[in-house]
Amino acid sequence: MELLNGIKERRSVRKFQDEEISVADIEKIVDVARFAPTWKNTQTARYNLVLDKAVIARIADEAVLGNEWNQNIIKNLPALVVQTTVDKRSGYERDGSFTTSKGTHWQSYDAGLCGEAFCLAAHGFGYATVIMGIFDEAKVAEIISIPEGESVSALIAIGHAAEEPAAPKRKEVADLLRVIK
Ligand SMILES: Cc1cc2nc3c(=O)[nH]c(=O)nc-3n(C[C@H](O)[C@H](O)[C@H](O)COP(=O)(O)O)c2cc1C
Repeated sequence: MELLNGIKERRSVRKFQDEEISVADIEKIVDVARFAPTWKNTQTARYNLVLDKAVIARIADEAVLGNEWNQNIIKNLPALVVQTTVDKRSGYERDGSFTTSKGTHWQSYDAGLCGEAFCLAAHGFGYATVIMGIFDEAKVAEIISIPEGESVSALIAIGHAAEEPAAPKRKEVADLLRVIK
C-alpha cells in the first residue's frame, strides 16, 4: 500500500541539488501536512519557508550552536523551513492552566506530528527532507523575526535529493512492542 511504503521509504537526506524550490510545491506539501492530528485541533504549527540564500547562510553560520554537521547541511540549501508553533494553546485550558500533568509537553508532540506529516507529504511530492533539532532557538527567531507568541520547533531542510542514504538500522518489533493482556 502506498501509504505504508511512503512511511518506510522516507529518509533523512543531507545533500541537496542546487536548484530553485517552487513555492507552489511547498503550498501543496503544507496542504497535506495540515491534516496532521493536533491537540483539540488547535493546529499550532507554522512553516516559515526561507528561500533567501543570505538568510539561510546566516542561520548556518550563526544559529547551529557551532554544530558543523548541521552547518554543512544548511549552508548550501535551496530552501529551509523553520517550523514554529504558537505557544500556550496545545495542552492548555482556556484559562491558561495546563490540562494535564505533562504541562508544555503537548506543544512539542503536536510539532513532531506536523513535522512528520510535512516530511511524508514532501516525500510524496518527490522532495527530500531532514529535520534538524540542533539549533540556537533565540538566534533563529531573531534572524527570521518570528512573531511574538511563537517558538521555533525544528529546522527542516527541503530540496531534491543529491544522495540516496540507506535506512539506518531499526529496532526489532519485539524490542518495541509490549502487549499487556
Ligand atoms: C527531533 C529530531 C531531531 C533531529 N535532528 C537532527 C539534526 O540536528 N541533524 C541531523 O542531521 N539529523 C537530525 N535528525 C534526523 C535523524 O537523525 C534521523 O531521522 C534518524 O537518524 C533516522 O533516519 P531516517 O530519518 O532516514 O529514517 C533529527 C530527527 C528528529 C526526529
